[in-house]
Amino acid sequence: GSQPLRVACIGAGYVGGPTMAVIAAKTPPEAVQVRVLDLSAERIAAWNSERLPIYEPGLSELVFAARGRNLHFSTAIDDGIKWADIIFVAVNTPTKECGIGAGAAADLTYVELAARQIAAAADTPKIVVEKSTVPIRTAEALSAILEACGRTSFEILSNPEFLAEGTAVRDLCEPDRVLIGGDLKTERGRQALEALVELYAYWVPRERILTTNVWSSELSKLVANAFLAQRVSSINSISALCELSGAQIDEVARAVGLDRRIGPRFLQCSVGFGGSCFQKDILNLVYLCESFGLNVVADYWRSVIAINDWQKQRFTARILHSLYNTATNKKIAILGFAFKKDTADTRESAAIDVCGSLLQECAKLSIYDPQVPAEQIWSDLTRRCRRTRDELAAYVTLAATADEAAAGSHAIVILTEWDEFRTLDYSKMYKSMCRPAFLFDGRSVCDLKALSEIGFLCYAIGSPDDSRIQLR
Ligand code: NAD
Ligand code: UDX
Repeated sequence: GSQPLRVACIGAGYVGGPTMAVIAAKTPPEAVQVRVLDLSAERIAAWNSERLPIYEPGLSELVFAARGRNLHFSTAIDDGIKWADIIFVAVNTPTKECGIGAGAAADLTYVELAARQIAAAADTPKIVVEKSTVPIRTAEALSAILEACGRTSFEILSNPEFLAEGTAVRDLCEPDRVLIGGDLKTERGRQALEALVELYAYWVPRERILTTNVWSSELSKLVANAFLAQRVSSINSISALCELSGAQIDEVARAVGLDRRIGPRFLQCSVGFGGSCFQKDILNLVYLCESFGLNVVADYWRSVIAINDWQKQRFTARILHSLYNTATNKKIAILGFAFKKDTADTRESAAIDVCGSLLQECAKLSIYDPQVPAEQIWSDLTRRCRRTRDELAAYVTLAATADEAAAGSHAIVILTEWDEFRTLDYSKMYKSMCRPAFLFDGRSVCDLKALSEIGFLCYAIGSPDDSRIQLR
């Protein structure tokens, strides 16, 4: 028979790992072979172990079944490049920390390094797929580098990833759409595009595979994230109005979302969106608009982030006011540290900001999260507070259970919507707490009426104020 299609991916992170696992799982090994490559020996070792480096429901089953069959993890990047027909680039593209565009523009260092590595190693024609989220026209830069440094020919495609963490496997197996941008003007461009379409067509219905020009594809990714984040900021802005006016945010969200033009999803108010993508991609869009002189457009999108920052501050301020304006040396139980449920990821988690602000008030935090590793919490908080772990240790403890976190505390603060927080034994926790016992629900997981009956003084985002809580 003919050779299998050889697919490599540079970057074995949240996107590269699950995406390649699903490609391998959905294709026969005689037709498609997949290699996932990374600089980090530690990450690759974890992908090859029993304990994968990331937690996603359903992921380990897929990886264990395909690993060694048509899915391979390796640090031999040059070998992998030489071997492959199609090379996905799924490296990180964080916000630039210094220089021009610091705090807004995307840092393309890793993308460029990957391109240079491909150019140096490749000796047969390759299709290079931009999987990382990048500013519009990055493909042009990639192409220039590959052409200038390479010995062979390259076709560049843009294929942004829309998976969300916590549902990565489902999102990859049943995507709303797969977007592929390519050079539709040349025969080779069209062939490259068709090769990638055929790969996805193993499991994605053809009508859900969209092909566009490269620039539309690159931009669509930024715009999709900006729209999603905007919905969260929109509902969060209204949550503040609800608290003061007596309306209930979930009732408003439901009434509004039943309009089919608006739709019900992504209208869950919260302590603020987090995750590695929303803020970074909006900042990227803002920077792009500014660089084209579209300042009004830039300001519009920047306000989505401003609302998000305000939501986090507002929540922390409410905690402080409720605790009679002092949190000093008060034990506070923090339930949830991940940026959303079903992931151990804490990147840009609202919990980091809320905990950081409470630590500035000299509160004593006892933090419980069912998935986030202790090391991650320490590293996030030491970075946020600019204090050493030893300095923080007087104020921060990590609890093994929610009960342990709550014992002896003045308040419970819910920052991630883990399912298990819905069914905790709150009356038992109440008994172990100081009086008055407060509960601040940043994720709408609790039944406020039931908690009030237990005796808690409750505050939930978007719910009218509990009149028993002293305000201001
Ligand atoms: P990540 O940090 O989890 O993984 C990136 C990996 O790339 C790291 O393991 C790093 O070691 C590796 N790497 C960097 N440079 C390399 C090089 N030159 N050679 C080999 N390996 C290299 O990042 P991620 O969350 O997977 O995101 C990757 C891209 O996908 C970003 O552009 C992001 O915006 C985008 N994206 C992320 C998500 C998400 O939910 N996390 C969703 C859609 C799109
Ligand atoms: C997001 C996009 O959804 C995904 O398509 C893209 O590929 C990557 O960025 P992710 O960051 O993994 O995915 O999670 P998402 O479910 O979008 O949630 C982002 C943040 O918004 C979380 O902190 C979440 O708690 C918050 N959120 C989401 C809300 O506060 N309310 C909502 O209604 C939805």
